[in-house]
Amino acid sequence: HIPKQVTVKEVGPRDGLQNEKELIATEDKVEWINQLSDTGLSYIEISSFVHPKWIPQLGDALDVAKQIKRQKDITYAALVPNAKGLERALEADVDEISIFMSASETHNKKNINKTIEETFPVLEEVVKGGRQEGKSVRAYISTVFGCPYEGHIPIDNTLRICERLFEMGIYELSIGDTIGVANPLQVERVLTRMKDTFEHDSLALHFHDTRGTALANVLTALQLGFTTFDSALGGLGGCPYAQGATGNLATDDLLYMLDGMEIETGIHKDKLYHAASFIQSKMDKSLPSHQMQIGDSI
Ligand code: HMG
Ligand code: MG
Repeated sequence: HIPKQVTVKEVGPRDGLQNEKELIATEDKVEWINQLSDTGLSYIEISSFVHPKWIPQLGDALDVAKQIKRQKDITYAALVPNAKGLERALEADVDEISIFMSASETHNKKNINKTIEETFPVLEEVVKGGRQEGKSVRAYISTVFGCPYEGHIPIDNTLRICERLFEMGIYELSIGDTIGVANPLQVERVLTRMKDTFEHDSLALHFHDTRGTALANVLTALQLGFTTFDSALGGLGGCPYAQGATGNLATDDLLYMLDGMEIETGIHKDKLYHAASFIQSKMDKSLPSHQMQIGDSI
């Protein structure tokens, strides 16, 4: 059942950096994204057009988008929360817009300052406006496997929100374990419901490795036939409004497992290591992924 090929969507420059307090220079972000573009990745989420007061680290999204060297076979995406964000993203001319909301009422309110019901018309406008300008639109649904404020989130509520997102015209939904609490059996239950409700190949997985379960969850998703995974190089990242949400699934750890299982990704591990080492050298810490802890033996 395990697929022969998967798509890895690199979210490091957005989800990876958004939680970093020390500002990284725009030129270093640009250089990092250029290096990521040379690794064989087909998709990079480069930044976010949220309010810069909320996420100061990504306040330079427009400059980043303008300065990177774009390769024609790579999709360069950015996170957009509302019409103002869309306006900025269109000025930056990213290829793809990622909208986002939460399955948890409390997390949604803390993250984007709106109730779930208030969020729908805002996102609808973004999807419509983005598609009119020829942009593809993807959506994230957060806290599907658990919320730092509400705990368990009933899957039926989540499915109803996802249905609304698909009705807006998104082509893909990324199912988020925002705070890294999911386990494989839970992933199997949730993804089975998702598969029964939506087109299989319009679903992606977005795991965080906060408690060390991300790769086990990836394996479960692979066994159910899922083929698109979000990850952040070096295991950077988290969500500033989900306390404790440190560490996306690391692209380098994911690649190690997929390579070993002979699942094709198109990504070159040496080039990936080079890019990870570069961004690590711009931060005052070592990157948390297993591969970066081992060093260049990846
Ligand atoms: P708000 O304060 O409610 O915004 O914030 P508002 O609509 O009331 O507007 C207030 C002012 O902000 C106005 O300016 C707007 O123009 C301006 P004023 O008229 O007062 O001068 N404004 C903006 N400026 C620049 N860019 C914008 C923008 N929007 C309004 N886009 C808002 C609402 C959504 C903007 C805010 O709550 C926000 O930026 N939130 C984003 C927080 C965030 O980035 N969280 C992390 C990402 S989600 C995540 O990590 C999960 C994910 O990875 C998946 C997973 O792991 O599950 C995706
Ligand atoms: Mg995330």
